[in-house]
Amino acid sequence: ERVNDTTMHATIGVFGGSGLYTFLPDTESVTLDTPWGSPSAPVTIGSVGGTRVAFLPRHGPGHELPPHRVNYRANVDAMRRLGVHTVLAPFAAGSLQPDIRPGEFVVVDQLVDRTSGRADTFHDRFDDGPQHVSLADPYDAGARAALLHAGRETGVTMHDGGTVVVVNGPRFATRAESAWHRSAGWHVVNMTQYPEAALAREAGIAFGGVALVTDFDAGLEDDPAVEPVTQEQVFDVFRTNIARVRDLLMAAIPRVTGS
Ligand code: ADE
Repeated sequence: ERVNDTTMHATIGVFGGSGLYTFLPDTESVTLDTPWGSPSAPVTIGSVGGTRVAFLPRHGPGHELPPHRVNYRANVDAMRRLGVHTVLAPFAAGSLQPDIRPGEFVVVDQLVDRTSGRADTFHDRFDDGPQHVSLADPYDAGARAALLHAGRETGVTMHDGGTVVVVNGPRFATRAESAWHRSAGWHVVNMTQYPEAALAREAGIAFGGVALVTDFDAGLEDDPAVEPVTQEQVFDVFRTNIARVRDLLMAAIPRVTGS
């Protein structure tokens, strides 16, 4: 059931990615439990304009949880229980294409799942009949429009559309894997968009993903000077851009209409 206390209600949710562990000032903190276990952290709820926003850092408050150990079901269910209708999900990503550069943003519209062994459904039994959701379009058009509008308003370089391939991690890709992902025409690579997007769909929550590009993954074939990504590079680029990620989310939130 949903949380009844009206102070524990929010309409928009934000999953913070690598480097984004706090979001709004003047928040109240809610420790939620779900049938799927505990979310990655207490959820903090604050207001943007008149909109109640719930924030949850998906890797935990101090990045304790690697991508394959995040309890995605608990995180998404926590948002559902708070009444959230739309989740905005910023994430760090490697670029697979030379025209998408570190420091730029991609409002993705497609996803390829290359993870394995993750709990990726709320329907472990079909007690109430079959439950096969469509994930043909994993990203919500309204959430995408809000993020794109926010990108224009804040003046960041933003790519409209793109496919994120989600790898299991925590290791980065080999050169061969990266070349394969590039030649397939995919745009960015990340470790957390799946199963987050699929679970949001099952929970009936509109989902919008925006990549902050931090690196060129295993490097660029045409430019040997571009070294394969390191963990330090990802966190450095995210740290440098954290204010722009926050500005983008603050500009997007009032534009999200939802259902
Ligand atoms: N997150 C940031 N950069 C990444 C990369 N190159 N591969 C997977 N996840 C990432």
